[in-house]
Formats: sequence, C-alpha cells, structure tokens
Amino acid sequence: MIEHLYVHIPFCPNICPYCAFYKESAGRERVELFIDALLIEAQRHATNLLPRTIFFGGGTPSALSYSQMERLLDGLQRILNLSELREWTIEMNPATVAADKAKLLKQAGVNRISMGVQSWDDLVLKKLGRTHSAEKAEESFFLLRDAGFENISIDLIFGIPGQSMTSWRETLEKTLSLAPEHLSAYGLTYEEGTEFFYLLNRGVMKPNTHLEADQFELAAQLLGKAGYEHYEISNYAKKNYSSQHNMAYWLGSDYLGLGPSAFSTLERERWRNICDTGLYSSSTMSGRTARDFEEKLSSSTLEAERAAFGLRTHHGVDFIRAQPWQKELEEMEKHELLYRTHDRWLLTPKGFLLADSVGEIFF
Ligand SMILES: C[S@@+](CC[C@H](N)C(=O)[O-])C[C@H]1O[C@@H](n2cnc3c(N)ncnc32)[C@H](O)[C@@H]1O
Ligand code: SF4
Repeated sequence: MIEHLYVHIPFCPNICPYCAFYKESAGRERVELFIDALLIEAQRHATNLLPRTIFFGGGTPSALSYSQMERLLDGLQRILNLSELREWTIEMNPATVAADKAKLLKQAGVNRISMGVQSWDDLVLKKLGRTHSAEKAEESFFLLRDAGFENISIDLIFGIPGQSMTSWRETLEKTLSLAPEHLSAYGLTYEEGTEFFYLLNRGVMKPNTHLEADQFELAAQLLGKAGYEHYEISNYAKKNYSSQHNMAYWLGSDYLGLGPSAFSTLERERWRNICDTGLYSSSTMSGRTARDFEEKLSSSTLEAERAAFGLRTHHGVDFIRAQPWQKELEEMEKHELLYRTHDRWLLTPKGFLLADSVGEIFF
C-alpha cells in the first residue's frame, strides 16, 4: 500500500523571478480540466493507496477558487480511503489565503498549512517579486489560526542580494513572535531558466556566500534557542511537528505523485509526469499515460539516495548503511564536515553549509 501522496497543483497568481517549480498562471478552463484529470489519475491508483500523509504542493494550491478546491477535495474524499491519514498539508501563498477557503480545507481534513512568507521586510518581498506585503502575510497567518489550524509552517528565504543581516534577524524574530509550529529557511538558489539565473549570469545579481553562511548560522542559533529542533538542513520544528511527509521522502519511503511534473517512486520504479498541464490533462483524460520519464532504480542508487538524504537530517547515516563510503566519510571527518556518534555519521555546522558537496560522495 502506498502511504505518501503528493499532489502537484501547478497554478500561481503570479510568477516569482527566482522560482523553478513547474507552474503557470491559472486560466479557468485549464484548471477545470486539470481537476478532472487529477481525479482520474487518483482513481487509477486508488486500490493501492492508503495515505498516511498527503501533500498538496505547487505552484500554489491555494490559487484554486473556492468551488475548484471544493470539487477537488470532494473528489479525492470520494476516491481515496483516508482512514489512516495523519497529516494533510497544503502550500499557500499569503496573497491567496481567504476565510472561506480556510474553512473548507479544515472541514475536509487538511490539518497542516505551509505558507510562503519568504520575508517580513517589504523591500525584500519586492525584490523577490512577491505580490503580498508583510502585513497581508500576517493577516493571512491569523486568519488561518482563526480557522483552527494548529500546525502552520512558514517558508523563509535568506541569502538574497541586498538582504542585510538586520533584515534577516528581524524576519526571524518576527516569525518567532508568531510561534508557528514549523519553519523552513531556504538559502536562495539561482535555478536555471529563472529570471534570477539570467541576472546572475549577466552579473546584475551577485551572491555573497559569506553573508549567506552567517544568515544560515543566525537562523540555526535563534531558532534553536527558541526551542525549534533543526531536524533537516532547511527545516525547523517544535517538538512533534516535523513534516511527516517530507521525512518519509528523506528516509526513502515510497510515494506517489499526481499531477503535472510530479515524481513517484514505487518499488524501485521512478517516473515523472509530463511538465505540461494541457498535455497532462489530455493524456490522462483519454486513458493514456502522462509519464514522460521512467527509470528502474538499482539497489545501490536507492542506498546512495537514502544515505545522502539521511545525512541532511538529524538522523544522519548509520554505520551499517554508510559502510560502502567509509573512506570518503573519514576524509570528510578530517575536514570537520562530519562527526560520528556511537552508531552514526552526522553533519557538523560547517558540514551543513557544504551539504551539497558532502552529499556528492554517495554517487
Ligand atoms: C512551491 S513554493 C510555496 C508556496 C507558494 N507557492 C508560495 O510561493 O508562497 C515552496 C517554497 O520554496 C521556496 N523557494 C522557491 N524557489 C526558491 C529558490 N529559488 N530559492 C530558495 N527557496 C525557494 C520558497 O520559500 C517557497 O515558499
Ligand atoms: S514561489 Fe510560489 S508563488 Fe512564486 S512562482 Fe513559485 S510556486 Fe508560484
């Protein structure tokens, strides 16, 4: 039985210049067709699905209108057995949070919100091309609390050129004052094909890796002091509030992804649906596959992925699993990127900053 379900909802109210997730602007007819297709895709897998976690990601799932959301939720509730469901997350952009939608989601059983605040500094929000202000984000946060959500996560971004240490500190402090249960703090990445990537290559945007490292450390320090557990490089949670869905990915569980661009990994098979909403919808509706990529994973690839992802979490990699890379890990230990406990390898604070390079040793 598949226990983890991802649903990709590829629509956004506007397109942010740094973002490479598969998304497009929401046109009414396209959204309706997409919902039809998604429900058909869900139906195809229904007999093998008993989800413990569901994650509506995007894009911006909250960009759906009330009636679109209602149709999607009703359809999924009809098709799926949700008796084992423990965590149901939806990603929201503060600009698209509304009281009626929040109530609908709560009633449907969604119990976790992940909201992309990014910064509480209006100048930084402008730089990121966000359409909401800090004030609107705060309003949205309280609206979600009033609707009864007791598990809210806030996404923040640091390492943005022009974002001072003071601005980042204030963003962290403001976030702490709201006491969300979970927080993701991402270092800005320049993703190929985005406007920021183009600006970087033309030398218009200049990253400052030292400042970024200081901002990472400040987050770890302030959030740790406030009682948040740093359970994955970019993720912090109050006790018992780490994301069960993401932990399942990181620890190598199988998952099914529905919707355009969604990946699935089931019993050594990995596939991705096509990154084109129109084609995804028409293929699925006419009974054809929407996959445009498939691969069979070898057990050594799966082991390498588990080790690489595990190392990014507070679980680290246990000695038995780490055996094939013993020499490389010892080398990293000499450079103070890793340390060992009685049974496992873990990243040092310096290792956190260079985690991508450390992860490469497994492949
Ligand atoms: C799919 S978006 C989240 C929800 C919603 N679409 C929003 O923007 O509010 C997931 C998160 O990824 C992060 N993100 C996206 N692109 C990024 C980039 N290039 N660098 C760092 N973080 C990024 C943002 O923090 C964003 O909130
Ligand atoms: S950051 Fe969120 S709102 Fe902005 S383009 Fe990406 S998915 Fe859409």
